[in-house]
Amino acid sequence: MSSAKTWLITGVSRGLGEALAKAVLAQGDTVIGTTRDKAPDFARDNANFHWLALDVTDAAAIKPTVDRAFALKGKIDVLVNNAGYGLLGSVEEATDEQVAHLFDVNFHGTRRVTQAALPHLRQQRSGHIINITSIAGIAPNPGSGMYSAAKFAVEGMSQGLAQELAPLGIYLTLVEPGAFRTDFLSDHSLRRSPPAIADYADTAGAVVAKLDDIAGKQLGDPERAAEAMIAIVQAATPPLHLLLGSDALRRTEQMQAAFKQDIEQWREVTLSTDYR
Ligand SMILES: NC(=O)c1ccc[n+]([C@@H]2O[C@H](COP(=O)([O-])OP(=O)(O)OC[C@H]3O[C@@H](n4cnc5c(N)ncnc54)[C@H](OP(=O)(O)O)[C@@H]3O)[C@@H](O)[C@H]2O)c1
Repeated sequence: MSSAKTWLITGVSRGLGEALAKAVLAQGDTVIGTTRDKAPDFARDNANFHWLALDVTDAAAIKPTVDRAFALKGKIDVLVNNAGYGLLGSVEEATDEQVAHLFDVNFHGTRRVTQAALPHLRQQRSGHIINITSIAGIAPNPGSGMYSAAKFAVEGMSQGLAQELAPLGIYLTLVEPGAFRTDFLSDHSLRRSPPAIADYADTAGAVVAKLDDIAGKQLGDPERAAEAMIAIVQAATPPLHLLLGSDALRRTEQMQAAFKQDIEQWREVTLSTDYR
């Protein structure tokens, strides 16, 4: 029996989604890839690639599109919620409209696609959901607090969901990349809250300037990220979390150390609030 898998990946037009789709196709698996406008050129002549149009903010389109994806091959082994983008600027300067759209794509898009896939995955009693969040969804920096909030929302939902799915034979992994060399930090993808408040120049402003400096020079290689994601799908017991990149590891360990310090310093106060 063939062990080839079928993957449904959102946002394969460029970046991590494109790199993953190419790597998955190269190993002989099938990719059902979504983009917002046209089929990607890289898979034009590949019979193992199927294209579906999907804007993850189009709530009405998601269920029919996901149903069609499952009908195409009769089964989906791996769902990758990859579509997303960043918003830079201080928390105070983000507008309602910017925050609503950011959550619509990064959180509600992932939530809607996942909810549409779950009836099929439950019926299969198998499958692996990979939700791409970010190091920002674990260890926030100034200058991207709203983006962190949207990725934290994905982290929270997914960590609860993973426990609901474990008894049903369905895995869920949160992939948390550091900075990867994609369009993510380019004006093609990124949105910004224009900095008007001088008080944030040394915090949010400084971090945003640093990100502008590293655009195009990020340490993370999308092809290696794709290999890592394929490895967790092949693992006998996939992890709940997969950090990608030395920067993601460093920031997570710093966050954990600071959290631990707060816990230890305030342990007695924490324990003082139970009824006696
Ligand atoms: N690269 C990094 O440093 C980094 C770090 C941490 C996390 N991430 C996360 O990794 C994921 C992929 O990002 P990337 O680095 O590959 O960035 P990218 O090169 O900018 O690609 C983003 C992808 O998301 C798609 N997308 C955006 N809005 C969409 C919408 N409303 N509906 C459907 N698709 C939409 C884009 O499609 P279009 O071509 O149609 O715009 C594109 O395919 C995102 O979730 C991002 O938050 C990236």
